Amino acid sequence: VSVYWTDSSGQRFDSLASAYDEFCAVWDRLDPSFGQWLAGQVPAAGERALDLGCGPGRHIPLLSSRFEHVLAVDPSVEMLQLAHTVDRADSVGPAADRSKVEYQLAGILPDRGESTVDEPWLIPVTAASHGQFDAVVSVHALHHAGPAGRVLPLVQDLVAPGGRLVLADIITDPDQWADGDWHVARAQHSAARVQQLGGSAGDVAAVGRLLLHPQWLAMVAQSRPLSPEGFAAAYATAFPGAVITVGQLGPQFGTCVWTAPSAPPGPVDVASQR
Ligand SMILES: C[S@@+](CC[C@H](N)C(=O)[O-])C[C@H]1O[C@@H](n2cnc3c(N)ncnc32)[C@H](O)[C@@H]1O
Repeated sequence: VSVYWTDSSGQRFDSLASAYDEFCAVWDRLDPSFGQWLAGQVPAAGERALDLGCGPGRHIPLLSSRFEHVLAVDPSVEMLQLAHTVDRADSVGPAADRSKVEYQLAGILPDRGESTVDEPWLIPVTAASHGQFDAVVSVHALHHAGPAGRVLPLVQDLVAPGGRLVLADIITDPDQWADGDWHVARAQHSAARVQQLGGSAGDVAAVGRLLLHPQWLAMVAQSRPLSPEGFAAAYATAFPGAVITVGQLGPQFGTCVWTAPSAPPGPVDVASQR
């Protein structure tokens, strides 16, 4: 374990924030298919939206163009700082309407069981403390929060009756993910793909700066994305009736779109029906 390593999920991302942001900016520009997919899944309008693990804020423009109020949460100070300050109109639409956006150093905090993780500064996002949302979006963040069996029920609680959940996360062969050489090969492959798509030398360098960053390599060695089969099973259990895909948006992407059941009708006023 390297000296800079902490168990804290937010601190893991602090030193990666700007490299991650540049990496995403390159990919969102060269291949907008993920942003387009997301835009097709998020409801056209609503009151409250939550971006869970918002990172540098890639999806805040989309959410703030459709919802009256957006809560953007992330346990990384540096990520949240970028989300709060960088104006991005590059991904799926106009820059964020910041008057609608609230930023909070917070995240999903499941019972960590035996773990010694200590994140006293992290505000847990729960339905009890934050209420429920008409849309909950989380992209590539939930596997950082803990085991799916503990994390997903907390996420489900956050969706208002009739609300929409749009989740994407990394899926991978766990043996590959644990192998440092595989990550180096992944960086080479990603850089070659960027070049094929017409990216500049600067774009290729941005890919390497993230995927070969020592902190990135340390973090991925400790993180535990689900296998495609594990993702499909865990998400189908947590979100019955959800539309789940594995590998369709990219070999390493699993997605889950779920509409929460509508609130049961209130008690029937028998007297007024007579
Ligand atoms: C790979 S980034 C994805 C960021 C953003 N959603 C995007 O699409 O670019 C993962 C993010 O998850 C955040 N994260 C880590 N642990 C978390 C938790 N327990 N709850 C919520 N977010 C968490 C990290 O701080 C990081 O910003």
